[in-house]
Amino acid sequence: MDYSVLIAQLKALTENVPHRIANLANASALLWQHMENINWAGFYLLEGDTLILGPFQGKPACIEIPIGKGVCGTAVSLGDTVLVKNVHEFPGHIACDCASNSEIVVPLKKDGRIVGVLDIDSPVIGRFTDDDRDGLEKFASQLSAAI
Ligand code: SME
Repeated sequence: MDYSVLIAQLKALTENVPHRIANLANASALLWQHMENINWAGFYLLEGDTLILGPFQGKPACIEIPIGKGVCGTAVSLGDTVLVKNVHEFPGHIACDCASNSEIVVPLKKDGRIVGVLDIDSPVIGRFTDDDRDGLEKFASQLSAAI
C-alpha cells in the first residue's frame, strides 16, 4: 500500500475545503476505495467523554463509545494508535460487524488535542502491519489540517 499517494490524494481532495464532515466523508471513501481486505473504514468524533459515530463506509455501526471502552475508546485514553491483530483476543472489543477480525484505530488530533479517531476493520486476522500504522498516522495527521 503506497500511503504517500493516498495522502497526496487526501490533500488534493481536502485543500481549501472548509467543511469538516465533507472532508471526513471523502477521507473514508478514499480509504474504502484503495485499501484491500477491509470491511469498515470511518470516524468517531469526540463529544465530551463519548465518541460519536461520524462519516464512514461499511455496515451501520454502534453510535456511542465511551472513552476507555472498546478499541476506539482505548485509543483515546492511551492517546495513541491501537493495532489489534485479532479482535477476539482484545478484552472489551465492541463488535459492530461480525465479519471483523482485526482492527486499527488512530487518534485524530487537532492543535494537540484528540478530537476523534480513525477506525478501520478487516475480516483478515493480522491484516494491519507497522507500515499501516505509520501510513495511517501520517494520513490522520494530514487530515487534521482539514477538520
Ligand atoms: N470495534 C470498535 C467499535 C467500532 S466498529 O469497529 C465500527 C471498538 O471496539 O471500539
